[in-house]
Amino acid sequence: MPSKVQEKKSESSRQARMTTATGFLIIFLLVAGLRWLDNIKDRWYVFDPMSLHELSQNAIAASPNNTAGMIEHIVANLTATYPSTQIKLNTDTSEWMFNVAGGAMGAMYIIHASITEYLIIFGTPLGTEGHTGVHTADDYFNILVGEEWAFTPGALEMERYTPGSVHLMPRGVVKQYKMHKGCFALEYARGWIPPMLPFGATQVFTSTLDFRSFFRTARITGREILRNILIGKI
Ligand SMILES: *[C@@H]1O[C@H](CO)[C@@H](O)[C@H](O)[C@H]1NC(C)=O
Ligand SMILES: *[C@@H]1O[C@H](CO)[C@@H](O)[C@H](O)[C@H]1NC(C)=O
Repeated sequence: MPSKVQEKKSESSRQARMTTATGFLIIFLLVAGLRWLDNIKDRWYVFDPMSLHELSQNAIAASPNNTAGMIEHIVANLTATYPSTQIKLNTDTSEWMFNVAGGAMGAMYIIHASITEYLIIFGTPLGTEGHTGVHTADDYFNILVGEEWAFTPGALEMERYTPGSVHLMPRGVVKQYKMHKGCFALEYARGWIPPMLPFGATQVFTSTLDFRSFFRTARITGREILRNILIGKI
């Protein structure tokens, strides 16, 4: 006949096995759930890279030598193309903020931000250079003004992107890039946007301590993501 102590022991080891099994089940369901979400994320995309590329080229043609004119053209076109019940756009073209990430510094104006897409104007009239960051989204960099240069280790020649061209950075690809002299671009990212946000925010804590820009960026990004969630745009 087993003693009380032995019974207690086997009871607690059974409990431990149950806890472990439950833990594995939860992890399994979590991974399966995330993989499922990753497979269906396409259904939430509203923009498409081809027409944004075409729009960038038309904006350049419509306002040569006039960056502000190009931006107005882009925003007017998007506002006319997409109903505000489908996607929320930020039409305040004066809402710029600094962005320091990967050692590169520029300014951005957020046209759209949601969980699976963002569309911004990014650039600087001075030029900048840095690390692109490791992104969880595909990134389409449509050059409007100036040039962007890039390379990956092993390449001995640089890639060169001029106005009207698009630099596609697929999810996970990393490069060194340089916006030579002045450069502005329409940047479209599609994939999982929230994991990309820390890349844009870390340098405020490690280097710039520019909390004013940080809070402004966090407030506007949060506001835009929320406005979209409220109409069911994920
Ligand atoms: C917006 O731009 C696209 C691409 O250039 C073009 O096909 C479309 O006709 C434009 N829409 C409006 C309303 O201007
Ligand atoms: C754009 O500006 C540059 C420098 O000011 C000038 O040389 C060029 O002719 C201008 N191009 C157009 C299309 O206005």
